[in-house]
Amino acid sequence: MNSPTSGALRYLTGITTTGTPHLGNYVGAIRPAVQASRTAGTQNFYFLADYHALIKCDDPARIQRSTLEIAACWLAAGLDPEQVFFYRQSDIPEIPELTWFLTCVCGKGLLNRAHAYKAAVDKNAAAGADPDTDVTAGLFMYPVLMAADIIMFNAHKVPVGRDQIQHIEMARDMASSFNHLYGAHFTLPEAAVDESVATLPGLDGRKMSKSYDNTIGLFAPPAQIRKQIAGIVTDSRAPGEPKDTEGSALFQIYQAFATPEETEALRRAYAEGIAWGDAKQLLFERIDREIAPMRERYQSLVDNPAELERILKRGAEKARAIATPFMGRLREAVGLRNLGAQAAGGAKKTEKAALPAFKQYREADGLHYFKLVDTSGRLLLQSRGFESPREAGQAVASLKTQGLPALAVLGPQAERPQDVTENELGIALSRLMPDA
Ligand code: TRP
Repeated sequence: MNSPTSGALRYLTGITTTGTPHLGNYVGAIRPAVQASRTAGTQNFYFLADYHALIKCDDPARIQRSTLEIAACWLAAGLDPEQVFFYRQSDIPEIPELTWFLTCVCGKGLLNRAHAYKAAVDKNAAAGADPDTDVTAGLFMYPVLMAADIIMFNAHKVPVGRDQIQHIEMARDMASSFNHLYGAHFTLPEAAVDESVATLPGLDGRKMSKSYDNTIGLFAPPAQIRKQIAGIVTDSRAPGEPKDTEGSALFQIYQAFATPEETEALRRAYAEGIAWGDAKQLLFERIDREIAPMRERYQSLVDNPAELERILKRGAEKARAIATPFMGRLREAVGLRNLGAQAAGGAKKTEKAALPAFKQYREADGLHYFKLVDTSGRLLLQSRGFESPREAGQAVASLKTQGLPALAVLGPQAERPQDVTENELGIALSRLMPDA
């Protein structure tokens, strides 16, 4: 199933599409996520949270541009859309549908306590204004949309910054309320806060953040990056005077890119009185060494939005192969049902009889095969030969319990005929899952 019990640990992260990625985003989120996405035994979901962006931004051109730039950044940084689920939230209509289901099980009081909403209300109160002045229902509902993002795919772990932990707890609350009312459909997600990931200081030494206007662009032209680096605050010590690494933003940024040996070398150079200008040159070169190889890919994606669009559409198709059938089960669970199939117990039986089926068999070559056929006998999936019936059986079992994702693991051992879309196959498999 899609589900509390399937094998791989599922990680899911959303990226709000406002703004242009900077080095702080790269070091704090993009780079660790791309690395994590390659961990064996995990399944990874990354999506562009463009519905969330609408809560913060009413400039359509900026939403579009930011979506383009952020998608290009993640791909340029090495995210492999074949290995992970990489999609745009607004391409998954099941997400707003699930948002509504969760809205109906979420206590309003829970949302009253959300930090972002409370901060807005407190600010109004302090100004003597009506508590809800300039507070949209979108801001109020933000945690519900986010819960839908997460539990739609039954994510186990949600890598986030500290500021988002409350949202994950709220998602757990909503998932468990729904489970309590309608049966165990959702995994309860957990926040995964990686303490080892550095928060990068910005030009002024405070945390690098767009809201402080102290960022260094990730894929800005090198000349601009050089200029921004020149603007990093330092003290007034002259060349030749020993310098403090403690509290030096320049040193910390360098460290986020350098090997331990390189960091040690800079520490020595500080002690020996390196001139700030020379240290900034070293920093520029070190950053450029990491970023330059990605810049070309970034630029080619930004210059070919149609290619990006194709990648995202394909990602949405993969994600919907999970979301569409799952949403079908949730609709059923809450009672949004096909009235024609209402004959309760009896209806269930006819449904079962109409399921696609796996067939296992042996060929003249002595090898063991399986195939999946739909109720009309149409071929949906065909395996190659396995040495033993046990191997074939294991492959079938993994497809039955994990659905489409198991297919990636089987690789060329199981092939989908050309006339069958991935979505169709995903739906057929999900109908065989234990909780379908
Ligand atoms: N709220 C998150 C942020 O601002 C973005 C986000 C939206 C998200 N949906 C999510 C993060 C689901 C994790 C899971 O950073």
